[in-house]
Amino acid sequence: MCDTDHDHGKPFTLENRRSILLGLGIAFAGSVAASAAHAGRMRLPGMTFAPTPGIDLIADTTAHALPQPLVATRNDILGPFWRAGAPFKSKIIPAGAKGQVLQLSGTVMDTDGKPVPDVIIDIWNSDADGVYDLKNPGQALDPSEFKFRGLLRTDAAGRYEVETVVPGKYKIPGKLPGFEAYDGVLRPSHIHLMTSHNGTVPLITQIYFAGDPEIANDPWAAKSKNIVALDTTAATWRATFDVVLLRFA
Ligand SMILES: [Fe+2]
Repeated sequence: MCDTDHDHGKPFTLENRRSILLGLGIAFAGSVAASAAHAGRMRLPGMTFAPTPGIDLIADTTAHALPQPLVATRNDILGPFWRAGAPFKSKIIPAGAKGQVLQLSGTVMDTDGKPVPDVIIDIWNSDADGVYDLKNPGQALDPSEFKFRGLLRTDAAGRYEVETVVPGKYKIPGKLPGFEAYDGVLRPSHIHLMTSHNGTVPLITQIYFAGDPEIANDPWAAKSKNIVALDTTAATWRATFDVVLLRFA
């Protein structure tokens, strides 16, 4: 009786068994290397930082140094006043609120300049007096109490639009966890936004307004590129803010 591998017509010798095992080993090592490379690709810098108030995301420059035609919009701090569960709403001024109405709009695109539809933009700002509906980060809010907060979805052309008011300025409260070093700093007027989309790196950032004297003294705004001009020629003021997102490779 002959000990042969009938599928390949080769004798099943000790030497062949060694080369089969060696081949399996190489295949396994290759698969591990491929998995590691895949994992490495997926660990883009924007994914490695939890959006906690204590982390200055502006320092995350790696993602923005990638050789792309457009530079991705830079991150900014989440801040302590974000609240989960905002409703889809493009007019986020609550009934009876005072303030200068502002229409903010723009296009969300990738670093190749292609519009990105179906990006969820979570947007929030203070009222005209610099007061958020959330008085402290741990406070529970009923959804009906959400003020100046809303979710937007970019259309087929990557466009979004929201109607809010020009936010007031506020001092960073004392003893705010993660912000102790900035106790009493007067923040410039700003709007927060955060993106969520299946295919691009999440972005958390803020928008500031050109000419605001507080920008130079604010530890985050002073480093920001997200400073937009206000068009004050009509009753409703307008501002444009385009967003550039990094796609997952
Ligand atoms: Fe804020």
